[in-house]
Amino acid sequence: MSNHISALKAKGNSIGFVPTMGALHAGHMSLVKRGLNENNFVVVSIFVNPTQFDNQDDLIKYPRTLEADVAMLKDVSDNYIIVYAPNVKDIYDDSIEADSFEYDGLEHQMEGAFRPGHFDGVGTIVKRLFKIVTPDFAYFGEKDFQQLQIIKKLVALHHIPVTIVGCPILRAEDGLAMSSRNARLTPQHREIAPIIYKTLQTAKTKFGTKSAKVVSEWVEKAFKNQSLLELEYFIIADESTLKPVKRKSTKKSYRAFIAVYAGDIRLIDNIALN
Ligand code: PAJ
Repeated sequence: MSNHISALKAKGNSIGFVPTMGALHAGHMSLVKRGLNENNFVVVSIFVNPTQFDNQDDLIKYPRTLEADVAMLKDVSDNYIIVYAPNVKDIYDDSIEADSFEYDGLEHQMEGAFRPGHFDGVGTIVKRLFKIVTPDFAYFGEKDFQQLQIIKKLVALHHIPVTIVGCPILRAEDGLAMSSRNARLTPQHREIAPIIYKTLQTAKTKFGTKSAKVVSEWVEKAFKNQSLLELEYFIIADESTLKPVKRKSTKKSYRAFIAVYAGDIRLIDNIALN
């Protein structure tokens, strides 16, 4: 892969990169299309990274659909997409362990707090992939907003010469944020899951006039009345530090973040508030 990319770069081609764990859907494809618009070639990596899973059952059950993924990418471009699908040994050799990372405290919030070790695993794989692919631009979805901020911090702290591009969240028609894990929802959970985004939208309206605390209490109550979904967290945070808001300031940008269990499937979403 490295040789192939060096040859392309030597001819003056720019390289976009979309790291994924596969089971591709329209959300992933929006990143790929953006990359194709802005670069000569786009590398799409497909690798279910074991070190970022804090739950072994989730890792085992994570959907793996390589053939369908490749077909979907071929439909978009036959010539300008390069698929990189390494196996675990290619990346980790015999030691499937994450390196340790600090990201100026971003790693202690939300997903970092509820999924111990998760961002060490993400940092490990993304840093290794950047070294192999040496992209000019790398595309990440706001669906995983904390991950996007952490990757920006990773490249700044480690002086990795790549521009990180954040891309908007793609949603199903009923508002549910697209996710590879949606494929594992039961029909009942799939039917109720759009409530997550509806709740975020209402929270956004309420945040116009009410405090973060009042809005959070309203969300918690709304989920208590909801037997099929279990709220793990709802947090309104400063977009750049990801620290929970204490007192609202008109100078700062805030976002609401949510994690919800639908049966044993964990779903996350977020919305910009101002
Ligand atoms: P994965 O969940 O496959 O997501 C790959 C990329 O697609 C991420 O940047 C994610 O934010 C983006 N994405 C997923 N759903 C989206 C949606 N509905 N709208 C827009 N973008 C969406 O995130 C990972 O994989 C992994 O942690 C990875 C970065 C590949 C490291 O293993």
